[in-house]
Amino acid sequence: MLRILVADKLAEEGLERLRRVDNVTFDVRIGLPPNELAACIGKYDGLIVRSGVKVTADVLAQPGRLQAIARAGVGVDNVDLAAATRAGVLVMNTPDANTISTAEHTIAMILALARHIPAACAELKSGQWNRAKFEGSQLAGKTLGLVGLGRVGRAVAARALALEMSVIAYDPFVQADPSLEGRVRIAKSLDVLLDAADYLSVHAVLTDATRGMIGAAEFARMKPGVRIINCARGGIIDEAALVEAIRAGRVAGAALDVFASEPPPEDSALLALPQVVCTPHLGASTIEAQAAVAVEAVDALLDFLLREQIRGACNVVGLPRWLSPPDRAYIDLASRMGALLASLCDQGIREVTLTTHGSSLAVLAPALARFASAALLAPYCNERLNVINVEEFARSRGIVLRHVGEPNAPGPTDRVSLAVEGGEQHTIHGTVFADLLPRILSIDDYPMNLVPAGTMLLIFNDDRPGVIGFVGTTLGNLGVNIADMALSRHADRALMVLRLDAPPPREAVQALQSGPSILSLRFAALPPNVSGAEP
Ligand code: 3PG
Repeated sequence: MLRILVADKLAEEGLERLRRVDNVTFDVRIGLPPNELAACIGKYDGLIVRSGVKVTADVLAQPGRLQAIARAGVGVDNVDLAAATRAGVLVMNTPDANTISTAEHTIAMILALARHIPAACAELKSGQWNRAKFEGSQLAGKTLGLVGLGRVGRAVAARALALEMSVIAYDPFVQADPSLEGRVRIAKSLDVLLDAADYLSVHAVLTDATRGMIGAAEFARMKPGVRIINCARGGIIDEAALVEAIRAGRVAGAALDVFASEPPPEDSALLALPQVVCTPHLGASTIEAQAAVAVEAVDALLDFLLREQIRGACNVVGLPRWLSPPDRAYIDLASRMGALLASLCDQGIREVTLTTHGSSLAVLAPALARFASAALLAPYCNERLNVINVEEFARSRGIVLRHVGEPNAPGPTDRVSLAVEGGEQHTIHGTVFADLLPRILSIDDYPMNLVPAGTMLLIFNDDRPGVIGFVGTTLGNLGVNIADMALSRHADRALMVLRLDAPPPREAVQALQSGPSILSLRFAALPPNVSGAEP
């Protein structure tokens, strides 16, 4: 039974989805402080959060059963990603689902600022009719400067263009924006944007690089009378510097949905300013966005916990968001190759290289390398090792993990090779045929064609007559059934790879080891089932 903790308010659509899945139970516990979350987190396989709960390194220090955290929303600055990675816990988000709602809220904030809507509303409700005081300004013809041109930035740009604003954007990762047909001017530097904007709206993630990026120097450079909007993350704008800039009359007003500390302190100087319009982090709080993020987060979490599919990963790179059936078959192959090769690597591992041969596999190489390495190194690691923390684990032990794409390799099918250097060198080749079953094509210099599954016994022997008979009889006498077998030879040596119905008893191993011409024996326990192509 999978156990999931919902630690933030999640829309009913998401909870309903959890209720409908067999073998899953969930608890909703909102507002847990970090120490209480830390105390219970290890009992759950999955955690669902929004921005309200802090998943700190202390919370993740004893991960217990926890395998994944799904963020129903975008920002994951409330989750310690490095700690999650170290703990082998996958962190996923739902990057698309609340884009439109956040963009619409941004536009609402811009209009609220331009037309003094909150203050005018409050005065009228208090019995005053003061039209002259609230004269606003038109948006058409004004310049909106966007700090960040990701999903939300683009959606805001499209809406601002419809309001006949000019839009300029600064994003170090965007050199041109074909999606808006060249109607957004791309600023070469933040300064260019600061010089141009009448309204400046932030659409960046909070990182060490963006924390405080709009501060006193930036306000000093902006056009007098500029208006500031932040519906992205508190902390990107230096709040103290904003207070000063508003008091000095340089900034005419600010509309803020997010704050450096949420909720902001009751005596906040920023909120006390009449020029500041504010909302309590409502950007994504619409019926539509909450239903969408809840469903997407639940689906992503269940896909990972039940089907090992990864999407929206935030703390691993190189894992594709969507895997086709052949991609999945190659991922499975890579894991099996890693597990099989691990049985040969008792002399230590210094360097692991996964090479893809063939054009269609090159893009999958980083993911294949992670899966293969995790299976290869897992027997040498006392803690949980998986595709999330394998790179971190290897780095901490000085093991080099490499992946290489050989898109123009000759041969009829795409292939994968996994090579290990350490005390000894070993290489294994594999592929996936049209039936989507994994095949091992060679182990070291021994060619073969074998489906790697279940209990695998590798027997290296001198290439002499009688060895096969001896192995078959020995296992048969002890009741061990052979399901499949590959024989291969190289120079005067041979390798026999047997797939057994069950792990052999100790007497069988002892008898085989002392047999004539047997050089060495290795075992690998692989997943038993190989699904292959749909019939
Ligand atoms: C996000 O990062 O998705 C938004 O800031 C929304 O946050 P919320 O889910 O806490 O409303």
